[in-house]
Amino acid sequence: MTLLISSNATVCQSLNFRQLVHPDRGEWPRQIFRFNGRKPIATSCLNVDVQAPESSGKIAVVRESKEVMEAEGRFIVGTYARVPVVLASGKGCKLYDVEGREYLDCSSGIAVNALGHCDPDWVKAVVDQANVLTHVSNVYYSIPQVELAKHLVACSFADRVFFTNSGTEANEAAIKFARKYQRYSNPNDAEPATEFISFSNSFHGRTMGALALTSKEQYRSPFEPLMPGVTFLEYGNINATRELIQRGKTAAVFVEPIQGEGGIYSATKEFLEFLRSVCDDAGALLVFDEVQCGLGRTGYLWAHEAYGVFPDIMTLAKPLAGGLPIGAVLVTERVASAINYGDHGSTFAGGSLVCNAALTVLEKILKPAFLVSVSKKGQYFKEILNQRLGGNSHVKEIRGQGLLIGIELDVPASPLVDACRNAGLLVLTAGKGNIVRLVPPLIITEQELDAAAEILQNSMSVLDENDSK
Ligand SMILES: Cc1ncc(COP(=O)(O)O)c(C=O)c1O
Repeated sequence: MTLLISSNATVCQSLNFRQLVHPDRGEWPRQIFRFNGRKPIATSCLNVDVQAPESSGKIAVVRESKEVMEAEGRFIVGTYARVPVVLASGKGCKLYDVEGREYLDCSSGIAVNALGHCDPDWVKAVVDQANVLTHVSNVYYSIPQVELAKHLVACSFADRVFFTNSGTEANEAAIKFARKYQRYSNPNDAEPATEFISFSNSFHGRTMGALALTSKEQYRSPFEPLMPGVTFLEYGNINATRELIQRGKTAAVFVEPIQGEGGIYSATKEFLEFLRSVCDDAGALLVFDEVQCGLGRTGYLWAHEAYGVFPDIMTLAKPLAGGLPIGAVLVTERVASAINYGDHGSTFAGGSLVCNAALTVLEKILKPAFLVSVSKKGQYFKEILNQRLGGNSHVKEIRGQGLLIGIELDVPASPLVDACRNAGLLVLTAGKGNIVRLVPPLIITEQELDAAAEILQNSMSVLDENDSK
């Protein structure tokens, strides 16, 4: 393995080298840590000081992490209550912090790294494309974007695709498309339908339109007034919904077939069928937000396939480019026909580099054998979690589909999440903070799932400790 240093200001690194910036010195990094999937190895080269830090394997935060965390606290706007881990490299389902501690990743960068970390085909797609063309904007045509759209259309209900850079942007575009569709298809209406229906426990993003469709009060209230005209109904409640989806009023209904952030709640077939039929009756569009549950996570390519109900619009993001920022809005021809040049756009969206990465991700995930493996592993994970945790008095339910799994507790989940992390397992919370969310890379092995379940089981006692305080 070679480390190339061309000057003080430029560091070229091979895949296993990671660098730390010293922002307070305002210069490029002087320290480079080498990871072999284990403890950093001491080495030195030219003007680079490399250290082999202590790796206690416990919660102690040694100097290097501390430096990064302190710098983050000084230089980055404080929107994230981060956990005290500075991650430096990854391979497969394993992540390594700057002190070289290994973590089994059941968070996947919040359901993003479907192929795990540094998948060789993904790396090749990125490197090959970076060597040719990264970005040209949407002023011009580019091949990876058109290819990706073609592939997404070929494997979905959709006829056309609009690219964005994130999930919230995909929903933002869907909001605009729905409003435009209503104007376009009802030209004689003095006031076309402009309102939206969303549901309890929904999460659709943080920009002003998507935020207006997101139910969590604490995300919304500091920024009000949000986009007007959104009615929230109870997720799954057919009777409450029936009267409120109205012709001439409701532009679209936004729903996650399986709610991720909100707590791993699955819609019933009956509920989605009902939404489809009332939307059709009322001339409203049905939008499935599959930003988190789509693209293989449930063992189906699209979560809605399990229900046999199809939307007019589907939004995607997280795993599509395997960790590079992307979003996509998939639409039927009927919706697309309402959209004209200039109605929406983005400088970065659909860039060549990102789309080439996404082509590799999509090609791998949509293979039937891959999807079957996700289903089987999801089933297996739920079974072993039930065996190991089912009898614990704090566990109310273990639910989910494929590798989108929630463990609902009767107490806050964060002590358990912290204890798991200290034992080398990364998991997330969801819902009102009482749900452990497990969204491992889709390539995880049964052996790794066993290891995750064992750590979870061994960490459960922390919930009792908290009881007695
Ligand atoms: C269902 C759903 N929609 C939208 C979003 C927003 O995506 P992003 O964070 O990429 O803007 C998320 C993010 O968690 C999500 O889970």
